[in-house]
Amino acid sequence: MADTYDVESVRALFPAARRMTYLDSAFQTPMSVPVRTAIESFLEESSTQAGPKSVWLEEAERVRTQVAALFHASPAEIAFTKNTSEAMNIAASALPLRPGENVLMVQGDHPNNAYAFLNLKRKGVELRFIPMLPVMNADSFRPHIDSKTRAISMSYVTFHAGHRFDVASVGALCRERRLDFVVDVMQAVGVVPIDVRKIGATFVGCGTHKGLLVPHGLGLLWWDSHHTEMEPAYLATASLANAPADLIANPDDLTLAASAKRFELGNLNLLGIRALGAALDLIARVGVEAICAHCFDLGDRLIEGLEALDVGLVGPRERRHRAPHIIVAALDPVSWAADLAREGIRVSPERGGIRLSLGMFNDASDIARFLDVMRRRAGR
Ligand SMILES: Cc1ncc(COP(=O)(O)O)c(C=O)c1O
Repeated sequence: MADTYDVESVRALFPAARRMTYLDSAFQTPMSVPVRTAIESFLEESSTQAGPKSVWLEEAERVRTQVAALFHASPAEIAFTKNTSEAMNIAASALPLRPGENVLMVQGDHPNNAYAFLNLKRKGVELRFIPMLPVMNADSFRPHIDSKTRAISMSYVTFHAGHRFDVASVGALCRERRLDFVVDVMQAVGVVPIDVRKIGATFVGCGTHKGLLVPHGLGLLWWDSHHTEMEPAYLATASLANAPADLIANPDDLTLAASAKRFELGNLNLLGIRALGAALDLIARVGVEAICAHCFDLGDRLIEGLEALDVGLVGPRERRHRAPHIIVAALDPVSWAADLAREGIRVSPERGGIRLSLGMFNDASDIARFLDVMRRRAGR
């Protein structure tokens, strides 16, 4: 396996990777040195100069441009949110849905995506959960669409089994049937290349504490700005096209910003945005394609090792259907999570298995260490 980038120099930027075998990036990634340095610089500015906020706001616009590059989008289509849940709720409540209409979702999808849409039941909108199959594409949804279906929402990569669903084919179906399409890319972002136009979504949302390497509390929303009919459920000065210069609310002009700022509320998480800028610099230096290829290689090695021990997978095995970095081994979640923790190996218990998840800093030694423990336990 030839590394596609200098993994060891990236690994050196993640101190936690030296202290433990970290196979839990689908839960959260450990903090890297550049992100820590960025946060410390913000704290220093904050404590010695109290800002200046105007400089921080200019920085937020630069980071917005970095996010746009990551998504292959325009900065005007990016809003900062608090997390995935907020992004999904903003999207769900912006869809122009009427009582009696329905939205299709996938049974067992992440609850933070599902509840955003279940909340629409209050408006008389019906949520229809379709079965989660090992492969989900346009054909999985097509039979469930009827004359009242208005939207589909789904995760690109599943958190509990590492499926990587064919969102582009679902997006094409949505365009053909004039449906809105909302995609949760939380488990994909930073590891799987994302081109929002190829997905063909109306909204794409995520948090930044997994593949985007930022502490909790910052999220992102991409909005296809052709959809000017999408309006925010909440309103703040930031959402307006013409914010009042005298800071006295003007009841006669509630024109929404033409950009995705219409979905932003009040002051931004400027500390998190500083951290995101540093994280995106690091990710761009390595390249998402390279991170993806590296995780696929490590993932293959992990799967082969598990199979040699007769341990099956909960999710898909084939590269074309699986996420590069999420492998769920069919092991008793409770006892194995505790055993591995005792061995200094960080994983997550998931539905029906132990989730092993990779980041840009993992290397072959992490896989070897995990498999050694497995072999020892199996008496091999
Ligand atoms: C697919 C998916 N969506 C959403 C979330 C989390 O939502 P939030 O960012 O709101 O905490 C996770 C994991 O934490 C996830 O795996």
